[in-house]
Amino acid sequence: MDGEMNDGTAVDTNVVSKSPLQGAEGVCILAIESSCDETSAAVCVGGKILSNIIAGQKVHEQYGGVVPELASRAHMQNIVPVVDAAWAKAGIGLSNIDAIAFTQAPGLIGCLLVGAQFAKSLALALDKPLIAVHHMQAHVLANLISDDSPQFPFLCLTVSGGHTQIVLAKSPLALEVIGETIDDAAGEAFDKTAKLLGLPYPGGPLIDKNAALGNPLAFKFAEPQIPGLGFSFSGLKTSVLYFLQKETKADEAFIQKNLHDLCASVQHSIITILLKKLKKAVQQTGVTSVCIAGGVSANSGLRKALKEAGVKHGWNTFIPAFEYCTDNAGMIAITAHYKYLAGQFTGLDESPSARAEW
Ligand code: KG4
Ligand code: ZN
Repeated sequence: MDGEMNDGTAVDTNVVSKSPLQGAEGVCILAIESSCDETSAAVCVGGKILSNIIAGQKVHEQYGGVVPELASRAHMQNIVPVVDAAWAKAGIGLSNIDAIAFTQAPGLIGCLLVGAQFAKSLALALDKPLIAVHHMQAHVLANLISDDSPQFPFLCLTVSGGHTQIVLAKSPLALEVIGETIDDAAGEAFDKTAKLLGLPYPGGPLIDKNAALGNPLAFKFAEPQIPGLGFSFSGLKTSVLYFLQKETKADEAFIQKNLHDLCASVQHSIITILLKKLKKAVQQTGVTSVCIAGGVSANSGLRKALKEAGVKHGWNTFIPAFEYCTDNAGMIAITAHYKYLAGQFTGLDESPSARAEW
């Protein structure tokens, strides 16, 4: 019997449940990501991404940051059209799907719940297995989407709005965090300094744009002295704040007059901190395949600096395509692909979690 979704999409409810692991090489995964303010759905067949639809949420711009309740509501509005678009673009019928994947953690709990409930309902209706994916693990594995992907082991600097980590990847599902921030994430450092410069949220991409026109050595800000592979960014934010307070006292238009140089200098400071620790991680582990991932890996200065470091130190460097840097379901799908091959399924009683170790 065929059913119909409320947007008119025909649903084939007559599907025969395939047991997991049959025909694993051609396995078809529908993945959903809803951890923050992007609603995304992707279809992956045999480890190849056929579609990756991402709907952003403009509603937060006026508040200078993501408002969790508004984000959850926007996910509820977006999820059906986004999933529809994903399987339409992939040219896949619902009956071809072998498993449904969703972001289980970490993230905003109301947002995660929308994606999780949608995925569970679909899994129940289609009688398909469910795969829970850790968002940070997925950012790392976004590097496996490209045809030119790294061999294991590799190091990944994962830099997003909520995390800054150096991960040692020994195999797709054996990932070890060997360094992380003790306070702000790199994305927060971009967004918070952008706010001090009067730029709207999210400020990271705007700092990137303005930095392209400025001198990265125009201003110098405090550099943290954190042992080992740890990071700290809260001192940088304070250093920029005090500097701007002093300069704008003398000249109210200081920021306006120096915006490009200020953005270039902030960006340079953040990249310098990140690359120093990455170099240390290579020395410590002896692993010379080096990747970046997460929203901040979309930063053009960081992408260029990684490539230059690769040439200088003899590393093999890898950077995901832009659409797989910021939050996207393609990275959830590729992670779920490996979890499917490993037989790592989850029950309908699995709950999302705002915070979760991995
Ligand atoms: O991975 P992501 O999309 O979401 C989280 O999981 O947090 O990362 C979002 C972060 C934000 O802080 C945003 O400002 C930053 O990534 N970002 C950038 C750029 N594009 C996004 N930061 C610097 N330069 C960019 N081009
Ligand atoms: Zn993310």
